[in-house]
Amino acid sequence: MLGVKIHAVAHYVPPRVVTNEEIGTWVDTSDEWIVQRTGISQRHMSTGENTSDFCVKVAEDLLKKSGLTPDDIDLILVTTVTPDYLSPSVSCMVLGAIGANNAFAMDINAACTGFVYGLSVAQKYLVSGQCRHIMLIGAELLTKYVDWTDRNTCILFGDGAGGMILSGDSNKLYIEKLHSRGAMPITLSHQKVVNPFCASDREMDYLKVDGREVFEFAVKSVSENIGELLITAGMTMADVKYIVPHQANRRIVEGIGKKLKVDISKFYINIQKYGNTSSASIPIALSEMTEDGLVGEGDKIILSGFGGGLTWGSVLIEL
Ligand code: ACO
Repeated sequence: MLGVKIHAVAHYVPPRVVTNEEIGTWVDTSDEWIVQRTGISQRHMSTGENTSDFCVKVAEDLLKKSGLTPDDIDLILVTTVTPDYLSPSVSCMVLGAIGANNAFAMDINAACTGFVYGLSVAQKYLVSGQCRHIMLIGAELLTKYVDWTDRNTCILFGDGAGGMILSGDSNKLYIEKLHSRGAMPITLSHQKVVNPFCASDREMDYLKVDGREVFEFAVKSVSENIGELLITAGMTMADVKYIVPHQANRRIVEGIGKKLKVDISKFYINIQKYGNTSSASIPIALSEMTEDGLVGEGDKIILSGFGGGLTWGSVLIEL
């Protein structure tokens, strides 16, 4: 399948950091419990910026890094489950903010698998020749939907965004395996909750997660998914430089590694700094890996997402 060339990657997280200790002043939990059960030490939280604000920062950085102009962008895709509004889409807001006057724009909702699905959609527009340059951004403001009285969920989530500019490249490898199933261990529940961070109560929908069910689904489905991807590619794990998994829980990644009989060092993990940022977690990770020189031209990597819907899927790309 026609591959993708990544012109630039970038990420943004809001400056406010919420530590485990701070959450421990609101609910009955501890840094030790959270680190041991999830690998999370802190997360970033918006104190006013919306999802589109994160995206515009990433978009401007992407243009600067790539040397492209807004007019060069043919399509803007934003993956999110936390848009500013139902309409306009976040992608249209980004289009307007950066002045991408030749582009069209749409949002994609596939929960924490959003970025992998977004990459799949981008690749199809590139293969068809309809687009030359696509801006793909995963962005989430999950702390808005966190029930800060529920210790089962409030420890898990954080805010942020990451993205890339892509074009088609027939010399590069691209293989994908995507799946969905109608099941609801991750839902929203309408209730009134006091938000300790702005001392107000808001009646709206808050995230409810059956953590154990998500955990078991993720370990089983993602390990099988990566296995089928490698079979399709005719490759072994030795051909792959890194697996970049959705960052939901360090123990989930360890469980996937154990099932695949792959050492944990093959997985990039940064959940300790950001918590679960849903569809932003994979591009934030890729942006950091690029900044740190962990990956470069020609490396084959697997991006693997899983989340609400249920949705899951992996893409093998050659950088
Ligand atoms: N602090 C202290 N104790 C806690 C906390 C907390 N923050 N949260 C739960 N507990 C307690 C529970 O009440 C339970 O106590 P009980 O036995 O007296 O009832 C005990 O700890 C054990 O609970 P478990 O659910 O068995 O804990 P587990 O090891 O499964 O960890 C967790 C829970 C962290 C939620 C884990 O299941 C997980 O990370 N699952 C994935 C969830 C996830 O990422 N969801 C995101 C949805 S979208 C996506 O990215 C897939």
